[in-house]
Amino acid sequence: MKIAIPAEIDPGEPRVAATPDTVKRMAALGATVAVEQEAGRKAGIPDHDYQAAGAKIAAGAKDALADADVVLKVRRPAQSELQDYKPGAIVIGMLDPYGNETALAEIAQAKVTAFAMELLPRISRAQGMDVLSSQANLAGYRAVIDAAAVFGRALPMMITAAGTVPAARAFVMGAGVAGLQAIATARRMGAVVTATDVRPAAKEQVESLGAKFIAVEDEEFKAAETAAGYAKEMSKEYQAKQAALVAAHIAKQDIVITTALIPGRPAPKLVTKAMVAAMKPDSVIVDLAVERGGNCELSKPGEVVDVNGVKIVGYLNVPGRLAATASSLYAKNLFTFLELLVDKNKKSLAVPWDDEIVKGALVTRDGNVVHPNFQKKGAG
Ligand code: NAI
Repeated sequence: MKIAIPAEIDPGEPRVAATPDTVKRMAALGATVAVEQEAGRKAGIPDHDYQAAGAKIAAGAKDALADADVVLKVRRPAQSELQDYKPGAIVIGMLDPYGNETALAEIAQAKVTAFAMELLPRISRAQGMDVLSSQANLAGYRAVIDAAAVFGRALPMMITAAGTVPAARAFVMGAGVAGLQAIATARRMGAVVTATDVRPAAKEQVESLGAKFIAVEDEEFKAAETAAGYAKEMSKEYQAKQAALVAAHIAKQDIVITTALIPGRPAPKLVTKAMVAAMKPDSVIVDLAVERGGNCELSKPGEVVDVNGVKIVGYLNVPGRLAATASSLYAKNLFTFLELLVDKNKKSLAVPWDDEIVKGALVTRDGNVVHPNFQKKGAG
C-alpha cells in the first residue's frame, strides 16, 4: 500500500495533508509513504522531518503519485494533477463539491475514487475525522485575532492613570463551530460578546460561553434545525424580522464576526449596506463566509474593504492563516478516516463500502459520480 502526499498546487493553500506524526502512523499501518519535496514548507514542516518519520521524499508530484494507492490532499485535485494518478487510486481531501460538478466529473473520468471529507455524516464515530469542525474552530479563533489586528482600539476594559478604556463590543453571527470559538476567543480577550443564530440549540451554547444570545425566537426559529444539526434556509418573513433586530444591535458594535452558513447553499446575507452605513466609523466586520458569497453585502473575497471607516475583512482560507495548526489537525482527521479503509491485520486497503461514513463521503467510483447529491450532473 503506497500513500502519496503531493504538494498543494493552489498558491493560496499553505496547508499540507500529512504531518510527521501521521506519516509514522501510516507506516505502522503497513504503508510506504511518499511526500513531495517541500509539501510541508508553508506549514513549517521541513522534508527531513517527514524523512525522519519514515517517508520517502519524492522529487516531484509525478514521482510521489507513481503507483500510489491512496493520495492525501488538502484541496480537490485539478485535472492537471489527475493525469499522474493511477486508475483506481483513492483520493481523500476537501473536494468543495457543491457547485463544482464539472470538476467532480473530471475526477470520475480519471477513474479515481474520491472521498470528500466535508460530506462525512456528523455522527459521533466520525468526530475525529470532522474536518469542518477542526478547520472552522481555527477560523473562528483567527477571525477574532484578525479583527483585533485591524481594530484601532483595545478589546479589554483597562483602568489606567490616563483614563479608562471601555471594553470592545463584539457580535458573532452564526454560533456553529467557528462562531462558538470566536465567542470564546473574544471573551478571553476581554470583549463584551453577543451572538445570534437561527438554531435554537445554539442559545444554550452561546450562554454557556458567557455571551448574550440575540435572536427572533418565534415558532419558525423553534423548528429551524435539521435532523443533522444544521440550519435551514429561513423564510423571507423571518429574515426580515431578524434583519430588523440585527440592524439596531449592529449599530452599537465595535466588531462583528459573521460565520453563518447553510450546507450546499449560498451564505445568507445578514449584514446589509444600510447596516454597514449605520455602524461606527472605526468598527470592524470579519466575514468568514466570504468564500460562500459572504454574509455581508459589501465584503470582497481576499480584501479588506474600507466603507466610511468601517473595515470589512474578507480574508480567504482563514484556517490556512494558521497553516501549522490547521495542518496538524487536518492530517489527523485524514488519518482517522484512512484507518477505516485499511485492514490492520493484512496491512492492506479493504474499503468497507457499506459503512455509513464511507458511503457519506464517497463522491466518485469506477468512473462515475456516485454521491446522490451530485449524481445528475456527473459523468454517470
Ligand atoms: P455551519 O458552518 O454550516 O454554519 C455556521 C452557523 O451558521 C450554524 O450554527 C448555523 O445555524 C448558522 N446560521 C445559518 N443561517 C443563519 C442565519 N440566517 N442567521 C444566523 N445564523 C445562521 O455549521 P457548523 O459550524 O458546521 O455546525 C453546525 C452544528 O452542527 C453544530 O453547532 C452542531 O450542532 C453540529 N455539529 C455536530 C458535530 C458532531 O459530530 N455531532 C460536529 C460539528 C457540528
